[in-house]
Amino acid sequence: MGIQTWQSRFVSEVDAGLVEELLTAESEPAAESSASIISSRADVSSMDWAQLQQTVASCQLCELHSSRNNTVFGTGNQNADLLIVTEAPGADEDLAAEPFVGPVGELLDAMLKAIKLERQQVYITNVIKCQTPDNRNPHVSETLCCDPYLQRQIALLQPKLILALGRIAAHHLLVSQESLASLRERAHKYNGIPLLVSYHPAYLLRKPVNKRKSWQDLLKAKQLLSSR
Ligand code: URA
Repeated sequence: MGIQTWQSRFVSEVDAGLVEELLTAESEPAAESSASIISSRADVSSMDWAQLQQTVASCQLCELHSSRNNTVFGTGNQNADLLIVTEAPGADEDLAAEPFVGPVGELLDAMLKAIKLERQQVYITNVIKCQTPDNRNPHVSETLCCDPYLQRQIALLQPKLILALGRIAAHHLLVSQESLASLRERAHKYNGIPLLVSYHPAYLLRKPVNKRKSWQDLLKAKQLLSSR
């Protein structure tokens, strides 16, 4: 399996053109420029877990703060080897203030058990920390607001492996628009950390036929974890 090195961060100079292009895509509401979003973000780069969680809980950088009940920061072992990143909390997670509750969470737990991991052993978080209205996909401007929080979580955690579940998380972390099918076929890196892409458990509930491919991805993840 070839490791594709992708060292860039989401909003590096290299990516600025792509970010602007995404922000002006038809599906986006009239968005602020990436420069103005970036300048309004807090510097969280030296925060510890508690400070970061507090900052997320009081975040009002984008409109999603006005419809949330709770922010969903992330959960699990802050020394985990495996970090799972998915897209955004849903309505149940917004109420519980915790990622992956309900049937989708049960499937995620079963997937982890299949590679002999309990939820408490890994760390789980989302690209964005607030629920979106009607579960719509997050806008690029929203992911841009939340990006420093995820970056800081990754820097604090220093996992051995990041598993991006679903297209939104994979596209965000890899600054890519390639199909999930092609992204899951190779290993990537995020700031030097190995990253694999696989299916979102909610998608697997709708399309169980892909569980076999998901199982193959989980085995790759297990192998990578035990080799490091
Ligand atoms: N789907 C996600 O992407 N994240 C959650 O926390 C729950 C469902």
